Amino acid sequence: MERLQEALKRAREMREDARPPGASVPPPGDARPPLTAKTAQGAPTDVQARWDSVEEFSPTPRIMRKNRVVSFFGGPEASSFDIMRTKFVQQAKAKGAKRIVVTSPGPGCGKTTTTANLAFSLARQGDLRTIVVDIDLRRPNFGAVLGVQRAQQFSSALAQDADPMDHMSRIGANLIVGTNAVPVSNPSELIQSHSAQEVLAELERHFEPDFVLFDAPPVLTSDDTIGFLEHCDAALIVAAAEQSSIEELDVTEAEVASVSTVLGVVLNKCRYTTTNYDYY
Ligand SMILES: Nc1ncnc2c1ncn2[C@@H]1O[C@H](COP(=O)(O)OP(=O)(O)O)[C@@H](O)[C@H]1O
Ligand SMILES: [Mg+2]
Repeated sequence: MERLQEALKRAREMREDARPPGASVPPPGDARPPLTAKTAQGAPTDVQARWDSVEEFSPTPRIMRKNRVVSFFGGPEASSFDIMRTKFVQQAKAKGAKRIVVTSPGPGCGKTTTTANLAFSLARQGDLRTIVVDIDLRRPNFGAVLGVQRAQQFSSALAQDADPMDHMSRIGANLIVGTNAVPVSNPSELIQSHSAQEVLAELERHFEPDFVLFDAPPVLTSDDTIGFLEHCDAALIVAAAEQSSIEELDVTEAEVASVSTVLGVVLNKCRYTTTNYDYY
């Protein structure tokens, strides 16, 4: 973590140096929390050691089942998400996409549920490392869906007000989640800020993930996602059957495609499906 924290510190110092003459300088006692506090004892020597240094969290099967995170369990019930994973990996690799936003036309379509299922499906593939960041800062829910106990507020790490290590958890060897316990008052400004971009870039350099998934806000309710998409490689759109209209989906796809690449559309909450292709 030393490298990550040092880089963030350097970035802040550079910003302070670039401050125009006469601009107010924060008093010395007002410094932000030291980002190196937790990891001063020794730099990890390789990528897995860096991952291992993130505090571990083990979701409980009861909460996973209650919140429909079926791919946590693997096996036949996870098969639809495993198929999605395979297509996702193929598409993402073909397009060179690493940062992928999961969004939807409106709220409640299943973005968080889909992101969690995709993340666990990816994590069962041991050679892939995935980081999930909750950027739905008006309705953060990813931590609650997983049952994260620690009072994580990754938004404060994005604002460089806190050590990222205090606001993310590792699940198993190859999945890290940066979650939020409460909404923030300036979501759009924060996720599009230079500060947040610095933190995300440094996280990628430090942890070398194959994918960074963002559990993002809906497209049609604010400009948060469209603004953030500029900094990402692609988006996955989750539409809910009997909830999202064709028109809403069309507008969402067009908006996303105007700034990024649509990796695919997931039709969620489908009550009527054919079983013709079910192997199990
Ligand atoms: N495939 C599904 N079938 C039934 N309910 C679902 C499905 N996917 C999600 N849900 C439920 O719909 C609600 C909204 O899902 P959520 O993932 O929180 O949506 P979003 O993040 O898009 O707001 C939750 O109660 C969730 O458990
Ligand atoms: Mg959500």
